[in-house]
Amino acid sequence: MKFIQSFAILILIILLALASCKKEEEGTDSGNSSPSADSKGIGPITKVDLGEIDQAKAAKGKQHFDTKCSACHKFEEKVVGPPLAGVTERRTPEWIMNMILNPVEMTQKDPAAMELYATYLVQMTFQNVSQDETREILEYFRQMDKKK
Ligand code: HEC
Repeated sequence: MKFIQSFAILILIILLALASCKKEEEGTDSGNSSPSADSKGIGPITKVDLGEIDQAKAAKGKQHFDTKCSACHKFEEKVVGPPLAGVTERRTPEWIMNMILNPVEMTQKDPAAMELYATYLVQMTFQNVSQDETREILEYFRQMDKKK
């Protein structure tokens, strides 16, 4: 009995230590507490270089968005999927592109995407967009978020 008690206390101490580690980590990030704020997600994209917003790319991205995404997404309102205003602030560019290119695996394995799926209860599917087209859509999202 004594053994079990001290074992329980030991576990409690470990848990408390872990919890305080976690707090310290949170304290050091830049104040953005969104679960994917620093996650790149899961998929083919590991690094995106962002420069000034490229208006020509953004215009192409708008066209892809209007034909392939707007049935389920608007910016300010929820449709079938989440409103996309501010998405470039709450996610990394890599996460956004992986979500577009690899939505099924993302909703199965990435914590933030799993949470969205649990909320929206519809599976976003791959819309047959190339990596270049996806990059153009990302540019469009950046342009939209800058306009606000
Ligand atoms: C069939 C409806 C549907 C289509 C079409 C669709 N999506 Fe989605 N999208 C969703 C749903 C639903 C979610 C939430 C995750 C889930 O449940 O799969 C989502 C999530 C997202 C997210 C994450 C949003 C956030 O708040 O982090 C992005 C980004 C996104 N979609 C972009 C796109 C783009 C770009 C296209 C077009 C290439 C597209 N989606 C096409 C339904 C759709």
